[in-house]
Amino acid sequence: MSITLKMDDKTFKSLRDFIYEKSGIYFSDNKKYLLETKILERIKERGFRDFNEYAYFLLYSKDYKEELKYLFNAITINETSFFRNRPQMEALKNHILPELVSLPDRQTFKTLTLLSAGCSTGEEPYTLAIICKEFVDTKAAGWRVMIEAGDLSEAALAQAREGVYNEYTLRNVPKEYLNKYFTKEGDNYRIKDEIKRMVRFYHLNLTDDNQMRRITKKDVIFCRNVMIYFDDAVKKKVVGHFYDILKIGGYLVIGHSESLHNITRAFKIVHFPGALAYKKE
Ligand SMILES: C[S@@+](CC[C@H](N)C(=O)[O-])C[C@H]1O[C@@H](n2cnc3c(N)ncnc32)[C@H](O)[C@@H]1O
Repeated sequence: MSITLKMDDKTFKSLRDFIYEKSGIYFSDNKKYLLETKILERIKERGFRDFNEYAYFLLYSKDYKEELKYLFNAITINETSFFRNRPQMEALKNHILPELVSLPDRQTFKTLTLLSAGCSTGEEPYTLAIICKEFVDTKAAGWRVMIEAGDLSEAALAQAREGVYNEYTLRNVPKEYLNKYFTKEGDNYRIKDEIKRMVRFYHLNLTDDNQMRRITKKDVIFCRNVMIYFDDAVKKKVVGHFYDILKIGGYLVIGHSESLHNITRAFKIVHFPGALAYKKE
């Protein structure tokens, strides 16, 4: 079937507004081509005649919810890797975790809970799990660590749950950990169950207020390279939820090139070697 490859401006604006409302992801005027490329395959797959028909379906059909899943899979950028930004991981291992296990109010349950918000295909939460496991085994005997990991993209979550990775995404994993926590499967590596068991994956929309309010309290939140797709209004809302979710003494870690300047003043900025984090005091 032939398909009109161009999206007219009116369709672009209504689709862009719809996506923003449902996910917080904002396609600025110069990203029209990008949006076209991202959803074209899906339009062909569903047999819609053009972008306009697809937009109409999303906006006015009562069955649009099921389609949202595919739309989110298509528009999200899932770029990630294990041990992404080493200094942030060192800060977690050498400063944040030791500080948390020393807090008086954490002694009763001896449990730390972390959230990887926008976890993509799982590299970030599994990295957190490896670091926490190493920490517990060497420095915090008797402590338990639970990691929740959420993402908007069901396709990314499916890969995360599978836990099989290629060499490229593992390029920064220390050799010792690669041998210890992965099993080779052909050209790929499978994450071992002892790490997998520490992480619970679920569908999460950071802009869904009801869902965010139901998240239980956490000691650490990693939300890296996710809010770059949001405008300031959405960032403020999401960061406000993170503040509420964190326990006193907990930390928020965002992407190393991101900033919460002009977004919030609620946190204390704490500097570590080559990294910083936002602490709820
Ligand atoms: C570039 S990846 C970052 C992955 C990982 N945090 C890292 O830094 O390596 C961004 C992820 O954010 C997710 N994302 C985008 N908007 C989201 C939203 N509203 N709620 C939850 N996840 C979202 C995308 O699906 C994608 O997997």
